[in-house]
Amino acid sequence: MTATDSPIITESLTKQFGRGRKRILAVRDVNLTVKTGQVYGFLGPNGAGKTTTIRMLLRLLHPTAGRAYIYGQSVARHPEALRRVGAIVEGASFYNFLSARRNLEVFARTADHYDPARIDALLAQVGLTERKHQRVKGYSTGMKQRLGLAAALLGDPDLLILDEPTNGLDPSGMHEIREFIRRLATEEGKTIFLSSHLLSEIEQICDRVAIIQRGAIVREGAVSDLLEAKTSLRIEASPLETAAAILSARWPVTVNTTWLSVQAARDEIPAIVRNLAQRDIDVYQIASQRQSLEEYFLSVVSEDAPHG
Ligand SMILES: Nc1ncnc2c1ncn2[C@@H]1O[C@H](COP(=O)(O)OP(=O)(O)OP(=O)(O)O)[C@@H](O)[C@H]1O
Ligand SMILES: [Mg+2]
Repeated sequence: MTATDSPIITESLTKQFGRGRKRILAVRDVNLTVKTGQVYGFLGPNGAGKTTTIRMLLRLLHPTAGRAYIYGQSVARHPEALRRVGAIVEGASFYNFLSARRNLEVFARTADHYDPARIDALLAQVGLTERKHQRVKGYSTGMKQRLGLAAALLGDPDLLILDEPTNGLDPSGMHEIREFIRRLATEEGKTIFLSSHLLSEIEQICDRVAIIQRGAIVREGAVSDLLEAKTSLRIEASPLETAAAILSARWPVTVNTTWLSVQAARDEIPAIVRNLAQRDIDVYQIASQRQSLEEYFLSVVSEDAPHG
């Protein structure tokens, strides 16, 4: 199960912090498979275990149980597997008194792949050309984030592991970096694993997503499949309460001020119309709304929340 063509595989990856009553199970039994060329989203609310999982993938943290494989090699036993990986982890650190360009030079020299033209090209790609000679000390969060991405790309990695890559960027910066990440996958064939708590972000750039909550994976699948599974209909009809009563016999219905939200597939629309017409309900409009990943995510998170 450790195919070398899968950039990332985890098997029951688990991390516990502390002991006894203070014990926190930050990551529990996480099984993930990321395939070549995918942009894979790792979505979860604050404290869900995203950074902890990423730190284990990068050998910055030792798992309590389970294993992580990069290109088929156990990260614990073969740290050299990480040579094919570029990463941004929470709180990337730079030399504050050096310029962005000098920082990249130092990193490149340390890793023995110094190429000044490539450094300038990377700085241009992440939109830092104009500020590259300025000390990092005066950089904003978003600028540091861009520099982190350039640093992650220095060694021309096959796999990028990015912990919240657009954190601290303004909307146009986010858009720019998202486009850039997508291009790395489509034009350069890189595989990208990125975490985010921003649902819209995952929806816009990822092919596949795993949703993590309280350390455990609660859903996994192609973004398009997860969205298709749940469509909702917006129905305007009168009298609204009677329509709701009729439809709720067969479908989940939520009553809003002037319309009903009905969980049903598109091919059930004719049956819905017949049901309403037979009972003399006036129908003004039926629109099918693709559920955004945000609504889906919130519904998953609340379904799985423990009660009481
Ligand atoms: N070194 C540590 N010692 C003790 N507990 C920790 C440590 N690191 C993380 N945790 C706990 O593990 C859980 C998961 O944290 P983690 O940082 O992985 O979440 P996250 O999904 O990255 O959240 P965020 O979106 O806020 O970055 C949290 O409850 C956190 O408090
Ligand atoms: Mg985190």
